[in-house]
Amino acid sequence: MLFKILVILHTLGATVWTGGHLVLAATVLPRALKERNPDRIHQFEEQFEGFGLAALLMQVITGLSLTWIYFPRLQDFLALDSFLSVYIAIKLGLLLGTVLLAVHARFFIIPNLTKETLNSLAYHIVGVTTLAVLFVVFGAGIRLGGLG
Ligand code: HEM
Repeated sequence: MLFKILVILHTLGATVWTGGHLVLAATVLPRALKERNPDRIHQFEEQFEGFGLAALLMQVITGLSLTWIYFPRLQDFLALDSFLSVYIAIKLGLLLGTVLLAVHARFFIIPNLTKETLNSLAYHIVGVTTLAVLFVVFGAGIRLGGLG
């Protein structure tokens, strides 16, 4: 039962994190770039930041809990000798990439967001969104018993 609840919460969190970034990348960002108007991004950011971060936090908690259920002993996970452990390791790599991109954007680009720095933020948004979609691809891959 706990396992099923964790999978449902994890999937729900995925809709928020990945869905939110797809909306940002596919609708808000193109408009902001067209108008050269950083305010559009600021507005979205203000609305989505807390909710999005809560969703990402939930992904980490539920994801690690699921991993613990699959691999009660850490050394079995670290052996990386099954598609499951490899896909989970890839997801941890995606998480590291996401955190690095998000921290860089949040603390170095967004505070000084102008028309000139809008392009560099655009690359970050596309990057985090790509990673968010890959989370879903590899997550679904786990459920499907591998993507090959
Ligand atoms: C924003 C980040 C993440 C997203 C969008 C995401 C998305 C997904 C999706 C869509 C699934 C398929 C659910 C299903 O149909 O069963 C999944 C499964 C899974 N994810 Fe994530 N995930 C994220 C982060 C993580 C993290 C950080 C971990 C921990 C290492 C993790 C571990 C797992 C595991 C173990 C499964 C398999 C659950 C099952 O048996 O189906 N995920 N993920």
